[in-house]
Amino acid sequence: TAYAFYDQVHQAGIQTPQQHHAIFVSYDLTTTDASDLQVLLARWSAAISELQRGQSLGAVQPSHANAVPTDTGEAADLGPNGLTVTIGLGPGVFDHRFGLAEHKPAKFADLPQLPSDQLEKSLTGGDLSLQACAEDPQVAYHAIRDLSRMAQGTAVVRWTVMGFGRASAGKGQTTPRNLMGFKDGTRNIKDDADFQRFVWHDGVDQAWMKGGTYQVARKIQMHIENWDTDYIGDQQNVFGRSKQEGAPLSGTRELDVPDFARKGADGDPAIPATSHVALAAHENNGGLKILRRSYNFTDGMNADGQINAGLLFIAYMNDPAAFVTLQTKLGRVDRLNEYIAHVGSGVFAVPPAPVSGSYVGEALFR
Ligand code: HEM
Repeated sequence: TAYAFYDQVHQAGIQTPQQHHAIFVSYDLTTTDASDLQVLLARWSAAISELQRGQSLGAVQPSHANAVPTDTGEAADLGPNGLTVTIGLGPGVFDHRFGLAEHKPAKFADLPQLPSDQLEKSLTGGDLSLQACAEDPQVAYHAIRDLSRMAQGTAVVRWTVMGFGRASAGKGQTTPRNLMGFKDGTRNIKDDADFQRFVWHDGVDQAWMKGGTYQVARKIQMHIENWDTDYIGDQQNVFGRSKQEGAPLSGTRELDVPDFARKGADGDPAIPATSHVALAAHENNGGLKILRRSYNFTDGMNADGQINAGLLFIAYMNDPAAFVTLQTKLGRVDRLNEYIAHVGSGVFAVPPAPVSGSYVGEALFR
């Protein structure tokens, strides 16, 4: 599969059927010159268009023996593999450095400190983001490597997470499992109507954002060893769903609609009120929904010999306040908190796809 880059309504990598692998990178701009930023966005756009078609970025093997290859070459024979690269702009793009403050959407700012945040500075923030997703991890890696190379002198990598195994489901996809062994993505946004209502920006506030969205990325550590000693009854109460089938504890099948009023044998709600799904469900949040497009990650072992792994949580929404509302609630009382820690975080405005001859974010500089 190859995804077109130019002349689409939205950037790819959001409503696109979720691929199996992802690399997420946040960059700090090292320039204070708006024209450097323009050049980078233009070069990235042209390059992503080539990469998504499975093309190399210029010569893998230049004809002159003393020429440096423009493409690093490791994806040369792999084809497009469903690659999508999605560009996001951090709040810093709109600060005093670049004279773009008047284009800043009213709703866009750094995320506030949220309950139970354990964010590490080196894994938080960033002026630009790239989300590269593909069916072959080497294709995603190659894209990020060569796009980062292109940024030299303008931006440097701030933090990055390598995701393996999708941990959310889109329309028509089977529901995968996260590293806690539970099906993840069962009640994700899937229908066009919900994308229109909850994901795509209407451009009323800032016309350049029409057809864009906001991206929230969180690196969430799982305390795997603790989780693995927990008994199954508690694991299921943490999520409010069964482990094997993924059914809400009020029902029997994965796709049964959760019934939060239904009582269990002990007279308490069958789906505990402090379970993850009871707290996050739209029925209990005034109808609020977000699109989740997360991946499992592992960084091997930590210095104490414990498994270093978790969820690269990536969500899209047309108002970052949606994430703040949900996470404020989850961060306070979610039973899941005993087993996780949010260690990395970023929020980015994702412009719509450019028309050919233009580039992502071009409207900002007019
Ligand atoms: C649902 C896992 C973090 C929002 C679920 C489900 C699982 C899950 C297993 C049930 C299946 C489904 O409907 O997808 C996790 C894990 C997390 C995590 C392991 C962290 C490591 C978050 C965060 C948010 C969030 C940070 C948002 C702030 C939601 C929402 C649902 C959900 C909105 C759907 C609830 C419903 O409508 O029934 N999650 N989640 N999750 N999660 Fe998470």
